[in-house]
Amino acid sequence: MTTKRVGVIGFPVEHSLSPIMHNAAFAALNMSDWHYDAMSIPPDILRLGLREPKNHGYIGINVTVPHKEAIMEYVQPDEKARAIGAVNTVDFRTNIGTNTDADGLINDLRANQVRIRGQRVLVLGAGGAARAAVYGLLRAGADVAIVNRTKSRADKLVAQLRASARLDGAAVMTLDQAADWGMSLIINCTSVGLHPHIEQSPWIHGLPFPEGVTVYDMVYRPANTALMQQCVAHGGRAIGGLGMLARQGAIAFELWTGVQPPIDLMLRVLQETLETANED
Ligand code: ATR
Repeated sequence: MTTKRVGVIGFPVEHSLSPIMHNAAFAALNMSDWHYDAMSIPPDILRLGLREPKNHGYIGINVTVPHKEAIMEYVQPDEKARAIGAVNTVDFRTNIGTNTDADGLINDLRANQVRIRGQRVLVLGAGGAARAAVYGLLRAGADVAIVNRTKSRADKLVAQLRASARLDGAAVMTLDQAADWGMSLIINCTSVGLHPHIEQSPWIHGLPFPEGVTVYDMVYRPANTALMQQCVAHGGRAIGGLGMLARQGAIAFELWTGVQPPIDLMLRVLQETLETANED
């Protein structure tokens, strides 16, 4: 029986949770001929490094930091990857690179019964994660505002989405303006609050949250961020970003295998792994 190989490339990549999540899904589905592993490829040898999984018959790979943008040169980016400006999943059988982050986020919002169409949504941040979020949200019919520490980067994100996907409708604001604008959903796409800086929040201390707002925090380490705690303390709802990680992975899993993975199990394995890591 030849092993059907998939994996993730990054640098560093040792801390990636993807192998645990995908291999748990293979085991649960009795797909013992499939295996997912992590490959560390330094950025200066990405082109050369890519030959390894290709020559060893890998069916596909996930791509993580810092290769998501650079790999676009060596694969055929599909419409989503071009719009988001980054590839996180490659199918070597076609050499097509796609991006499953936006759909992972939207699927997780829907799984949590968060309304998107026609809603005002505030995106915090203007990096790669924010661009995927804004793309997904605009496509899903939301009215989007972006707040970023560096305003010029948010302006650039709006211009890029207009150029790459003809998507209009995202406004760049300050946090005060956004609080007045009023939204039903806030998505944190910054790294603020990420372990070990768990006391930090991208929301100004004391600034009121709109009534009934939901915070979705892409940061999942810790599971309950300072931003999530602030929002709940003001009567809002908070959702951590682990579901997005599971769902972006699930889309890649299905693309490579043609099989729908057990998302609840993948999510549970991620939760357990992070809880165990916290005990160490
Ligand atoms: P990713 O690809 O994961 O989105 P990134 O491109 O490095 O990562 O983007 C990180 C985001 O977090 C940016 O929006 C960044 O703001 P700047 O554009 O001003 O750098 C934001 N960010 C990181 N640290 C921050 C901090 N201490 N305060 C506010 N925003 C921060």
